[in-house]
Amino acid sequence: MNPFVITGNIPEKLFCDRRKESQRIIRGLSGGDNICLISQRRMGKSKLVKFCYDRPELSESCYTFYVDILHTSSLQEFSWQFGQAVFSQLVSQSRKMLDAFVRGLKSINAKFGFDPMTGLPTFSLELGDIVRPDYTLAEIFGCLEAADRTCIVTFDEFQQIGMYPEKNMEALLRSHIQHLSNVHFIFAGSERNMVSQMFQSSARPFYNSASILELLPISRTEYFPFVTGHFAEAGKSIATENVQKIYDLYEGNTYCMQKTFHEAFDAVPSGSECSLDILRQTVDSILEEAGSGYRLMLSGIPTRQKELLYAVASEVRAEKIMGADFIRRYSLASSSAVQTAAAKLRKMDLLTVRDGAYLIPDIMLRMYLQRISDPGKQFL
Ligand SMILES: Nc1ncnc2c1ncn2[C@@H]1O[C@H](COP(=O)(O)OP(=O)(O)O)[C@@H](O)[C@H]1O
Ligand SMILES: [Mg+2]
Repeated sequence: MNPFVITGNIPEKLFCDRRKESQRIIRGLSGGDNICLISQRRMGKSKLVKFCYDRPELSESCYTFYVDILHTSSLQEFSWQFGQAVFSQLVSQSRKMLDAFVRGLKSINAKFGFDPMTGLPTFSLELGDIVRPDYTLAEIFGCLEAADRTCIVTFDEFQQIGMYPEKNMEALLRSHIQHLSNVHFIFAGSERNMVSQMFQSSARPFYNSASILELLPISRTEYFPFVTGHFAEAGKSIATENVQKIYDLYEGNTYCMQKTFHEAFDAVPSGSECSLDILRQTVDSILEEAGSGYRLMLSGIPTRQKELLYAVASEVRAEKIMGADFIRRYSLASSSAVQTAAAKLRKMDLLTVRDGAYLIPDIMLRMYLQRISDPGKQFL
């Protein structure tokens, strides 16, 4: 079995570190706090939530719900996903609560049934069944508030609510949430600026309603022995120095590192060493594999924006992108064209600003673009 898990559930033994973070989350929730969990994409937020849910401190005394809203685009869909998630997760957690939930959802014509094969209740709820999403939302929260155990709800990819046509979404959710004492929340999100503004700006409804936990890369002192240890356990080896090269290449992005070691682990026969050369080949093949998706994405982007992406990728951290120097160096059209392009790219999350510099947050995309500008580029 490959110890570097990149899809599905991560067994506890193969879950690296996050002890402090999980303690903070569990302690916070147990004390009645809400948590706002933010990081770059693929740093490990969702897996960390799952990991916390599985700890006995939560699993033995709470009902836990996880709602991914990345693909939702309205309050109606939000309520739909939330209802679906609560139902499907109650099936395995509490029959009594499930019955109460079914009775409580009066605003919708959900088709509750019974599967004769499994003996479990079934629930068929179509998006179109939700005609008054605000009522439905109130009913779902009402049901959780009345539960015989504390309820923990995670809304993952929470930044998505900013894309809904309902402009009062934050205020609406906040008005529900502030009346709940039996339900605590994790709001997880990947667009740092947006999510932190939501919780840290005194003018916004969610101000001060959650404590913010920014998930940083797993530390080197935890990650290096994790990697070398798992290679060793399988009778393979890898030099710490090479683990470090991968860590630095990806700036500690959990997914990119795990993906690389997953592939490299398979490429190394038992009894052999995972050399720098194997790592190079692995990185190249991962980039190639990611390429088809990136090509498709790039084909839908106007030239002006693409030019800017290539320019920022080359610099890694690009400062003063609207300045004459930068524009000349990369033969860009004009300061105002760059400004417009940057705004569009930021909206799509292809570009972010960190500490005053522009960068491409998706490191693989950045590397892919660098390779196109400079086909001979070596990353390790
Ligand atoms: N603590 C961890 N130990 C091992 N692998 C992890 C850990 N956290 C995350 N991963 C890996 O990183 C990937 C991305 O994690 P995920 O939780 O989906 O990130 P996010 O929700 O921040 O985008 C996972 O698929 C998994 O392969
Ligand atoms: Mg996630």
